[in-house]
Amino acid sequence: MNKSIFIITCCLFAATSFVACTDSNSEGEIELPTAPTTPDTPDTPSQPSDDNYTEQYRPQIHFTPAKNWMNDPNGLVYLDGTYHMFYQYNPKSNDWGNLSWGHSTSTDLIHWTEKNVALSPDELGMIFSGSAVIDKDNTAGFGKNAIVAIYTSADAYQQQSLAYSTDGGATFQKYEGNPVIKNTELADFRDPKIFWHEDSKQWIMSLALGWQYGIQFWASKDLKNWTKLSTFTTSISRCNRGQWECPDLLQMDYNGTKKWVLIVSVNPGGPTIGSGTMYFVGDFDGNKFTADALDYPLWLDYGADNYAGVTWSNTPGRTVYIGWMNNWQYAGASPVSPWRSAFTLPRELSLHEYNGKPLLCSNVVKELEASASEWKELTANAFDAANAYEVELTMPIDNDAEISLVNKEGEHLDYTLNAATNSIIAHRNNQTGKTSFNGNFSLPSVIAPLNTEGNSVTLRLYIDQSSVELFTGNGSMAQTLLVYPKSIYNSITINGKPATGRVRTIKSIWK
Ligand code: FRU
Repeated sequence: MNKSIFIITCCLFAATSFVACTDSNSEGEIELPTAPTTPDTPDTPSQPSDDNYTEQYRPQIHFTPAKNWMNDPNGLVYLDGTYHMFYQYNPKSNDWGNLSWGHSTSTDLIHWTEKNVALSPDELGMIFSGSAVIDKDNTAGFGKNAIVAIYTSADAYQQQSLAYSTDGGATFQKYEGNPVIKNTELADFRDPKIFWHEDSKQWIMSLALGWQYGIQFWASKDLKNWTKLSTFTTSISRCNRGQWECPDLLQMDYNGTKKWVLIVSVNPGGPTIGSGTMYFVGDFDGNKFTADALDYPLWLDYGADNYAGVTWSNTPGRTVYIGWMNNWQYAGASPVSPWRSAFTLPRELSLHEYNGKPLLCSNVVKELEASASEWKELTANAFDAANAYEVELTMPIDNDAEISLVNKEGEHLDYTLNAATNSIIAHRNNQTGKTSFNGNFSLPSVIAPLNTEGNSVTLRLYIDQSSVELFTGNGSMAQTLLVYPKSIYNSITINGKPATGRVRTIKSIWK
C-alpha cells in the first residue's frame, strides 16, 4: 500500500473517534498488555548493485542504501566508537511500504556499512519512525548499556513500542509488553524521540500528532511505563499548513546559557513546497515546552529536500543532525534505481544570536574534511568534479549577482543573490536537469534569507551527483536541493564570468 493510501485508510478508520489533541489519550500510567510478539528474523543487508555505487545519480558523499526504498533517519545513537543509523526502509522494493528499520554503522559519520535489517513488521503493524538511547543505568532492566529503540507500531492505529539490543546493535528483541503506549483514538500519534532529562531524572518522549498540529510530551523512569505530561501547539498559521511529524527536543548552549530547541517536520507546508523542517526555541521545565517569540525565521533548511531530520541521542559536546534528502511531493517518483533516497550530509547544529534572537545554524560535520583534497583556486576552466566537491565563494552583497553551476552538457542550476532582500534564490527548472518525472519538482524560486550581517557573504556549496547543499559560511542558512543533471556540474560562473573562490574535491565514500 502506498503511503498516502495507508494514511488515508488510518484517517478513515479513526474518523469516528476523532477528538482534540489535548486530552484524548488516557492520563497517567499506561496499562501494559501481555500479548507476546514474535522474535525478529533479520533480513540480510542489501548488496551494492553490479555498478558498485556508480549508477547514474548515485550520491558519492551521501549515505544511500545499496538498494531499495529509504525515508526518515531513525534511532540515531552512538555506542563504543560506533555511530548507529537506522532508517525507514522497505527491504522488498524501492517504493514506500513494508516499513522496517534498516541499519548502517559508521565510525566517522561519513563511511557507512549496511547491516541486517534491525526491525521488521509484526502483528502490531509496520515499524514507523522512532529513536534509540543507550540505557547506561539499566533503567528498563534489559541490561546495562542496552540499545533501547522506541518506534511507532503502525496499523489501523499508531502505538509506541520498544525493542532492545544487548549485543551492540547486531540483533534486536521486541519487548513482550508492546505497545508501551497504546492508542485507539488518535489518527496520528507517532515518531517517538526520547532523551534522559537529568533535572527531573526521567526519560522524556516527544510524540507527533500529525494533522492536530501538536507535539505531546511523555515521561518515564523505566522506558516501559509512560505518563503524559503536556502538549505543545501553536496557532501560527505558517506552522499549521500540514502534518506535524518527527519531533526532536534538544537542550543547546546559547550565549552562555541553555535554551531548548524543538525541531518539528511539517508536511506539506514547508518553506517551498511540500515537506519542510521548522524549529521553535524556548524552554522546557521537565513538563512543558514554552516557545519564545515566533517572529523570526524558523526553518532549519530553506531548500525543498531536507525532511524528517533528527539528531544523534548521545554525541557528547555536540549536536549532530541528519535529514532525509527528499520531499513527499515527489519522493516516490525520484528517477533513481535500485535505491531510492539519500540522507543529507550530517550536520552539527548550534544556536547563535542574529538580530538579537537565537538562530539555529547548521554546519557539515568536521569528519568530512578527512575525505577532502587540498583547496585549489577556482580557475576559468572547468574543474575536476569526478565524484563530489565543495566550493567556497565570498561575495559582496551590495549588488545582485547570478551564480550558475554548469555541467559539460550545458545544464545549469542558477542562484540569484538579491542584495535588497539579503537573500539567495535558487531556480530549479528544466535547465537544471531532469524534472519531468513529477510536476512538483520544478521550482522557479526557492528563496533563502542569507541571515548574515555586513557587506559580504561566504557561500559554501557541497555538490554531489544529484544534490547541492548550500550553506552560508557560518551556517546561518542551509538550503538543500535535489537535482538530476546528466552529469555533475563542473564549473561555476558569477554573472556569466568564471567565479573566483576555491574548490576542493571530496573522495567518494564508497571507494
Ligand atoms: C515522516 C513519516 C513519519 C512516519 C514515517 C513513515 O516522513 O511520515 O511520520 O513515521 O514517515 O514512513
